[in-house]
Amino acid sequence: MKKKIFALCGSTRANSANLQLLKAIATLSANEFEIEIYDQLAALPHFNPDRDNETPPELVTTLREKIKACDGVLICTPEYVFSLPGSLKNAIEWTVSTTLFSHKPTAIITASGLGDQAHASLQLIMKTLEANMTEHTQLHIAGVRNKVNADGEIMDKSTLKKINELIKSLSGLIKEK
Ligand SMILES: Cc1cc2nc3c(=O)[nH]c(=O)nc-3n(C[C@H](O)[C@H](O)[C@H](O)COP(=O)(O)O)c2cc1C
Repeated sequence: MKKKIFALCGSTRANSANLQLLKAIATLSANEFEIEIYDQLAALPHFNPDRDNETPPELVTTLREKIKACDGVLICTPEYVFSLPGSLKNAIEWTVSTTLFSHKPTAIITASGLGDQAHASLQLIMKTLEANMTEHTQLHIAGVRNKVNADGEIMDKSTLKKINELIKSLSGLIKEK
C-alpha cells in the first residue's frame, strides 16, 4: 500500500517553482507515495485564537483532518522577505493548539532565490511542533528557478540526487504499511 503524503506548498502562485518541485517529487516517488498537494492555502481564514475553539472554520477542520489522516507531511516553500510566506505560516498557526505534527514523519524543503532565513525559521517551527524529522528530511535549495523548469523537471543533477535522498529518508521515517 502506498504511503499517504500531505503536501503544503508555501507559494500560491500558479507557476510556482515550489509547486513544480512538489509535482516532480510526486512523479519521482509514485511507486511508494500517494501525494496530495493541498489546494486551499489561499482560502484559509486568517488565524484568530478566538476562532480556534470547538467549532473552528470548516476549512481549518478539513486541513487538520488531512494532516491527521496522512502518513507523512511534506512542506515545500519559498522565502518571502526573509521569512516564511504569510499564507503558509497562517496554516501552521492553525495547528499550534493541536498535537497533529507531534511525531508526524515530516520533510521540509525551502526552495527560493536565497532562502536561508525561511529555512531556519521553518526548522525551528517544525521542531517546536515536535515533527519527526531527520537532517535528511530537511533540504534547502537556493536559486530554485534555475534548477526546476516549467515542466516540473529537476534540471540540476545535485538537486535531483538530494530530492531522491529526501524521498527515501521520509519513506524510512514512515512505518511500513
Ligand atoms: C514578496 C516577495 C518577497 C520575496 N522575498 C524573498 C526573500 O526574502 N528571499 C528569497 O530568497 N527570495 C525572495 N523572493 C523571491 C522568491 O524566492 C521567488 O520568487 C521564488 O521563485 C518564489 O517561489 P515560487 O516560484 O514557488 O512562487 C521574494 C518574492 C516575492 C514575491
